[in-house]
Amino acid sequence: MRLVFMGPPGAGKGTQAKRLCDSLRIAHVSTGDMIRERIRAGTPVGLKVQPFVESGGLVPDPIMVDLVSERLAEPDCATGFLLDGFPRTQPQAESLTRSLAKLGRQLKAVIVLEVPDDEVVGRLSGRRTCTNPNCQANYHMHTIRPREVGKCDRCGHPLVQRPDDRPEAIRTRLENYHRQTEEVAKYYHDTGLVRRVVGVGSVDEVHQRIRDVIDATGR
Ligand code: AP5
Repeated sequence: MRLVFMGPPGAGKGTQAKRLCDSLRIAHVSTGDMIRERIRAGTPVGLKVQPFVESGGLVPDPIMVDLVSERLAEPDCATGFLLDGFPRTQPQAESLTRSLAKLGRQLKAVIVLEVPDDEVVGRLSGRRTCTNPNCQANYHMHTIRPREVGKCDRCGHPLVQRPDDRPEAIRTRLENYHRQTEEVAKYYHDTGLVRRVVGVGSVDEVHQRIRDVIDATGR
């Protein structure tokens, strides 16, 4: 099964993607995680993209397209994947169409998680993320709290605020979403692949809505 997750920053893409990929046993391809991994490791790509990411801007298309093409060629993607955060621009969507056509593969659905801007701002301002690169669990200061303040429930590592969760960066990310990424949903509209899911409600409720949509689409 090959899926794309779209939605504004903070819509819950990462939270839902981790859960869905575990249950469907497909690869979770998160471009945000891939980028943050490179920034942490200080690779040439990481150093190049850091200013874009921390200010809330989009990483240039050629860099993203190369990273994703390489990732989709890895063995764990052969049986299925969920793209979380890609494509975000029309050139990225066109490149994905070409790559999949070359591999003789097709997308099953493009799931758009819909969450209003004011809810997204509240979620991102309160988000705290685990610093353990192998965990990266997300929490929220008010709604999804860790058992112990500032400490991950799963692995005990410290929790921090992402640099792009500062108010100015959140504004820029939302603007980019409305200006560029919503166009991508229009790009997919005529293919009949787009499924819109209300992203407000508990994590369990949203997960169930996504499962229902996928089940209705068939495998
Ligand atoms: P990325 O990491 O993909 O950031 P994003 O799309 O802005 O999404 P987020 O990770 O902020 O939010 P999310 O939707 O995953 O929500 P989450 O589950 O964490 O990308 C980061 C940056 O990398 C980009 O800004 C860009 O610079 C670059 N980049 C990445 N891909 C790119 C591309 N293709 N092209 C160019 N540049 C690219 O949840 C958010 C919060 O809400 C958490 O606190 C969580 O606990 C909470 N929460 C989750 N679900 C619920 C719920 N149902 N109710 C209440 N709270 C909830």
